[in-house]
Amino acid sequence: MLKKTAIISLFTLISASYMAQNTKTIPVYLDETKPVEQRIQDALSKMTLEEKIAMLHAQSKFSSPGVPRLGIPEFWTTDGPHGVRSEVKWDEWDQAGWTNDSIIAYPALTALSATWNKNMSWNYGKALGEEARYRKKDILLGPGVNIYRTPLNGRNFEYMGEDPFLTSKMVVPYIKGVQSNGVATSVKHYALNNQEMFRHTSNVIVDDRTLYEIYLPPFKAAVTEGDSWTIMGAYDMYKGQYASQNQYLLNDILKKEWNYKGVVLSDWGAVNNTEQAIHNGLDLEFGSWTNGLSEGHSNAYDSYYLAQPYLKLIKEGKVGTKELDDKVTRLLRLAYKTTMNRNKPFGNIASEEHKAVAKEIGEEGIVLLKNQGNVLPIDINKAKKIAVIGENAIKIMTVGGGSSSLKVKYETLPLDGIKARFGKQADVQYARGYVGDIGGEYNGVKSGQNLKEDRSPEVLLEEAVALAKSSDYVIFVGGLNKADFQDSEGNDRKSYGLPYNQDQVISALAKANKNLAVVLVSGNAVAMPWVKEVPTIVQAWYLGSEAGNSLAAVLAGDANPSGKLPFTFPVKLEDNAAHQMGEYPGNKEELAAGKGKDQKNPINIKYNEGILVGYRWHDTKKIKPLFSFGHGLSYTTFEFGKAKADKKDMSQDDKITFTVTVKNTGKKAGAEVAQLYISDLKSSVQRPAKELKGFEKVFLNPGEEKEVTFTIDKTALSFFDAEKHDWVAEPGDFEALIGNSSDAIKTKVKFTLK
Ligand code: BGC
Repeated sequence: MLKKTAIISLFTLISASYMAQNTKTIPVYLDETKPVEQRIQDALSKMTLEEKIAMLHAQSKFSSPGVPRLGIPEFWTTDGPHGVRSEVKWDEWDQAGWTNDSIIAYPALTALSATWNKNMSWNYGKALGEEARYRKKDILLGPGVNIYRTPLNGRNFEYMGEDPFLTSKMVVPYIKGVQSNGVATSVKHYALNNQEMFRHTSNVIVDDRTLYEIYLPPFKAAVTEGDSWTIMGAYDMYKGQYASQNQYLLNDILKKEWNYKGVVLSDWGAVNNTEQAIHNGLDLEFGSWTNGLSEGHSNAYDSYYLAQPYLKLIKEGKVGTKELDDKVTRLLRLAYKTTMNRNKPFGNIASEEHKAVAKEIGEEGIVLLKNQGNVLPIDINKAKKIAVIGENAIKIMTVGGGSSSLKVKYETLPLDGIKARFGKQADVQYARGYVGDIGGEYNGVKSGQNLKEDRSPEVLLEEAVALAKSSDYVIFVGGLNKADFQDSEGNDRKSYGLPYNQDQVISALAKANKNLAVVLVSGNAVAMPWVKEVPTIVQAWYLGSEAGNSLAAVLAGDANPSGKLPFTFPVKLEDNAAHQMGEYPGNKEELAAGKGKDQKNPINIKYNEGILVGYRWHDTKKIKPLFSFGHGLSYTTFEFGKAKADKKDMSQDDKITFTVTVKNTGKKAGAEVAQLYISDLKSSVQRPAKELKGFEKVFLNPGEEKEVTFTIDKTALSFFDAEKHDWVAEPGDFEALIGNSSDAIKTKVKFTLK
């Protein structure tokens, strides 16, 4: 006993004297007992200038350093909005070749938005965040909330549609779901990145009212209501400054007006000026010196705009450290919520729950556009033989499309889903019909499919028509895909029509069999010259790992479709506001003069159409769309009662409540989305014919009726007055319009703002 005590005190003595002699080398511990803001100050006070600078920029393709000396961990980011991207090498874009980084792919954000169901959004975020957490990621690079301005934008599939209200409401639960895992979201791309063409070399010109009413609300909701811990700056320019180093967007609006306390990170390679990066609100720089995939100088990280060049300016006394400390404070705050958050869960990956979430969102997001003669659901008693035709029935869609491309555990293809659901009772046969894109690789992730086809288009069409003729049902699965110039990052679509001669195939199938359902897999609207020839049309989006199962459930009627379009399908491209009134892909004269080719010669894109985006344009100008915003059918029928308001007049500080009953008048359980639009009957400024200000998805059994309530205040009546730089609700008469699509208003009620 004695001996032991003696040894211990000897050790204490030696170590104490050792520590006394080596005070400089002993680790400095952070005080973990104080409230977070004090701990941040404590950490800040212990950091050297070099350590602070190091935190502001990447150390690898997807990570940024912490402070090793203080035990502050590095941040690991990952794409992307629809699943956790696979691992690349430290300093290269090539695949790292891990075998444990396959995940569940969730439906693309267009599909999520089409559910019009906020609970789905939370489930999505929660599940995706769990996978990110399990994969040890701290920042998920998404969700994307850029507004759908033109159907040609290659990245529309990653966004949530054309309406700022719908997008705002849908994005908030997603963010909360992800962040409940101690994983930050990075809402992107802030702001005005509404097309891919010229994304690095354009300057967007938009008036303040349009900016505040159409393009900013989803970002504002994401940071003020969703509390997204980070936000990603975009590539494009606004007022002549690149968005990721933009005084107006980042400092004036985000950090001052919205009082944002989180971290602004740049899009990958979006920074090009140290002074602007220092002063205009950027906190964390990523991806400089890369062009996306092929370029990337080894160890270029010290040359980042917020690296040695910044340090040099400070050391030379040319800039102070106020901005630096603010940036680091924000990063430390982020660390305490993510990497240094002791209460975060461990996450999990590819669980049965995650598969179920992906499947359910897919089912709820699918939109039944047309169903003449009730071709769907497929009547299993009549379906002895089912023909499945079209490339998208057999094509993997999770690989491709740019940074949202994924390496999945599995992806159920439409043909496999249909076979699994109907194969026992019916003979399911497949014909390709046409050949589109046979590629199947993105950034080293391979789909593993061989889609090569040597037969001529004529032979393929003949085969498809013969199969259609001999079948009881024909399910055509086509649309777009994730190849370049389709639904894909970096480029826009070249035209509005369906590619690969699909129009001709669809028309031929319509002649061959009247029980035809056309299923479009895409993230964008397409022209449908055959719309009158085809009885049934389904918008199926990119649905991720469970794509085939979600689709089969809807085709069979196991799931009753309840999705609604999050954007308008114009008949033709010229009917879209940006193409009729605005500039796309840029100013015509500048385009002709070759502008937009590089950053020295940027091109201007003027949003002349102003606030009249999507249905706001179609409704106001009375341009009938092919399918309207908010549209979507069901296998049952619904009836709306008469809308009532709880008062006739409201004051500026009042609230007003509208109620309406929705009844399932058909024979199948289903869900309807009650949509509230507000129309300003007389105004001193131009107002859209109507604007979405509320929506509620109601699930109803046959015969069941429920009351839906919408409460609004003057914010739902306001427009942004650019001169006052404030929201104004003008006294006068308004109308609340309630229906199940922007072009199907069922009941109205007038009221007055005093
Ligand atoms: C995309 C971002 C993405 C980033 C990292 C950029 O090119 O625009 O959305 O998160 O790359 O992959």
